[in-house]
Formats: sequence, C-alpha cells, structure tokens
Amino acid sequence: MNRPTAPVTFERTPVTEFTDAAAFPPDFAWGTATSAYQIEGAVAEDGRSPSIWDTFSHTPGAVDNDDHGDTACDHYHRWREDVALMRRLGTDAYRLSVAWPRVMPGGDGPVNARGLDFYDRLVDGLLEAGVTPSVTLYHWDLPQVLQDRGGWPERDTAHHLAAYASAVAERLGDRVRHWATLNEPLCSAWIGHLEGRMAPGLTDLTAAVRASYHLLLGHGLAAAAVRAAAPGARVGIVNNLSTVAPASDRDEDVAAARRMDGHTNRWWLDPVHGRGFPPDMLDVYGVDLPEREGDAAVIAAPLDWLGLNYYFPVTVADDPSGPAPFARQVERPGAPRTGMGWEVDAGGIEALLMRLTDEYGARRLYVTENGSCYPDAVRPDGSVHDEERARYLEEHLAACARAVRKGAPLAGYFAWSLLDNFEWAYGYAKRFGLVHVDYATQRRTVKTSGHRYAEIIRAHRGAAGCGEGGGQV
Ligand code: FCB
Repeated sequence: MNRPTAPVTFERTPVTEFTDAAAFPPDFAWGTATSAYQIEGAVAEDGRSPSIWDTFSHTPGAVDNDDHGDTACDHYHRWREDVALMRRLGTDAYRLSVAWPRVMPGGDGPVNARGLDFYDRLVDGLLEAGVTPSVTLYHWDLPQVLQDRGGWPERDTAHHLAAYASAVAERLGDRVRHWATLNEPLCSAWIGHLEGRMAPGLTDLTAAVRASYHLLLGHGLAAAAVRAAAPGARVGIVNNLSTVAPASDRDEDVAAARRMDGHTNRWWLDPVHGRGFPPDMLDVYGVDLPEREGDAAVIAAPLDWLGLNYYFPVTVADDPSGPAPFARQVERPGAPRTGMGWEVDAGGIEALLMRLTDEYGARRLYVTENGSCYPDAVRPDGSVHDEERARYLEEHLAACARAVRKGAPLAGYFAWSLLDNFEWAYGYAKRFGLVHVDYATQRRTVKTSGHRYAEIIRAHRGAAGCGEGGGQV
C-alpha cells in the first residue's frame, strides 16, 4: 500500500502515558472515524433526500441550540483538505459512513449515481493518500421516506438496507475491502425508539424491540449482499459496549446490572454469534420478536471482524418502576468525567476487548471508535491545548496494549473523531475532534491530542520497524 509521505511538522509533545507501542502488531491500522451526517453537510445536493436526522434536528427543541447538520463540517466540499489532515496525523486508515439518502433517495431505489460519485472520489482520494477506507453502511441516517413507511420496526426496512448495501458494494467494492453493516444498533433501537433522545424520537418499547430485531436482520442480509457484490470483502458490525457494575452488592442491584448488561451488550452480541436473543432479556422486555423461520441463521452471518466502540463504563441500581431494563444509571462519586458527563475508565476498554476475545471467540477486533469530549479553549493564536483529551487517548491506548499483550486479536484503532462535528442531540457544543473546527470559517486546526496521536503512531512504527504507513484493515 502507498505510504503517506507528508512531513509531520508541528510542535512535538512527548508521549508521557503511553509507552508500549511495541505491543501492537506491525501491520496495526491507525485510523480516525467520522460519520456522514455529522460532517458532510450538503444535505440537499446531488439528489440527496432527507434522512430521519434532518427531520429530527429540524424539530424545535430536539437538538441542543436547535443545531442541525445542514452544513456541519462541509466535508462534502472540503474532503480533500480532510484527507490531507489524515496524512498530517500519519494515519493510514479512515472509517467513514455512506449516507443511504444520497445513494437511494427513494429508500428502496433507484440508485442515484451522483450520490455514489461522491464516495467514489473520496475512496480514490484516500487510496492515493495511502489511507485505507473502512466503510460503514448505516450510521443512523435512515431515509425519511422509509421512516414514513414505518422505519426499523417494519421488516421491509431490513431488506431495503440489503439492497442499498448491494448498490454501494457494487460501486466501491473493487477498492474497499473493509465493510461494517451497522454502527451501534443499540443507539438506533434503544435511544431512537425507547428513550426518544435520537431520531426518530419514539418512546415505545414494542417499536424499540422490533427495531432492534430488524436492525440485526438487516445486518445479516446486508452482510450477504456485500459479499455477493464484492468478493473478498471483509464484513463486520460495530457495537458500542460498556462494562456494567452494580451500585452495591445488594441482590437487587446485582440483578439490575445483569439486566443492563443484557440490554447493552448481550442483546447485540449473542444473536450475531449464533446464540439467539438472550432469554432473560426476552422476559424483561415482554415483547414478542417478529421472528420468521431462517432469520436466526441470517442474523448469525459469519463475521470477519468485530468493531468495539467504547466510551464509558456504567454503574446501575435497581429501578423497578423505571423503563426497561429497570436499571437506573448512578454516578460513582469522585469518578473522573468528560464534558459529556461520561465516566472515564480506560480499564473498561481492556475488559471489553478481553470479553470479546474470551467469551465470544473473536478472531479479529477493531476499536472502531474511542474518544472524549472536553470544552476546548482556543488560544488567540488559534491553537487548542486539549491535554485532557490527549490523556484520555493515551490511557485508552495503553489499555488496548494491555489487552493485546493478554491475547486480544486487536488489528486497529480508530480515534473518534478526526474532526469536531455535529454531536447528534448535543449539536456542535460537544467537541470530540483531534482537529478543531471553527464552524464560522470552517478552519481546521490540529489540537494537542492530534499531535500526540501522530507521535504515538510514529513511536509504533519505529518500534515495529515499519517506517511510515503500513497499517492494513
Ligand atoms: C457514538 C457515535 C458517534 C459519536 C460518538 C461520540 O455513539 O457512534 O457517531 O457521536 O458516539
């Protein structure tokens, strides 16, 4: 593969926390991640139709400050500059998502060639820069026309996902090898249909359980569609998982933690590993699954890899009168927290990587997202010294290295996020980027955390004796 050649010429910050770069294999992929709606903007260009996130974000009060993704980071027009930033950071992989409403504005066809042209150019630009693309097909932006026909609670939506996946793989599959069907189906189902904090904004347990089922069915159907359209494709799924601890050793809290583990982790992992939906959680939800014969095998399509998005651990107490799963999150007193209020615990990423390895027999793992939000102060010279984010990054990479030393087959790490971007219901106030974005001017500035990431990548390449580049996904 091509190697990035651009010199990295920014201020050097010594790697303080993270010292075990040699733990990672020589061909470890170093990447950043983004998603379409959070960065692209250009929502009405080249035939794109509205997604459920356009609708949700334009619903007064749904998103903080009534922010929306109409312009976002204007990546649709500035992608060349953003690819150049990836090179500056020394990354050799990039996780992007394709916007379904660009490719199939009608939801279930026909294909909009102009929508695919954008990703075609982007993939070529990445490959020219020596950056391997990893493509996620569904990062939450369902075409609104499909929501109008019932959305994920309806079985047809799973089949439409597969048809869309096939169209994308046919066009990009000659150059893209690494595919994810879904990003965090937990958020689509539970936050979108049960908690109502994300699009489509429903609070309906039956709809949520049906959505979760059809998302996983769609995953299986899309995996087969990608493999049929792009022989040699390596297909996986991306889940956001958390370690779960009981607030006390009371039996009720321990049982609540078991339910929260089912809700957050096992519900998403067991079916795709051929173990079916966890029976204890079926009892907790009390909703019949819309099962048909043969579905279980489709959902358990072979996985070439598993993606872990990790942000925080959770601690829960029994909550019998609350919503399913009847477990209330509580704050651990004194625990460090990010600007999202999320607890910081690098040990969680290590524990989850080991769980996927030991309990689920994963043969290839990626950290497909990990990162932190802090209120960044921009200095008069435009620089951003985000030491807390840099420390979060180092601590979590150190935890990943420990997992690798213990046998986790971790093949790559994608930092969330390349850029500050539209953080869903929190809008633009919450920043996760290694690169700062001034939304008024669209100026990009590498933060201290971005510099630190580049240092770590170089340290790894030095340790692995592979010079610049070399990561494979
Ligand atoms: C994850 C999402 C991603 C981003 C981060 C902070 O749940 O996949 O799009 O919003 O959280």
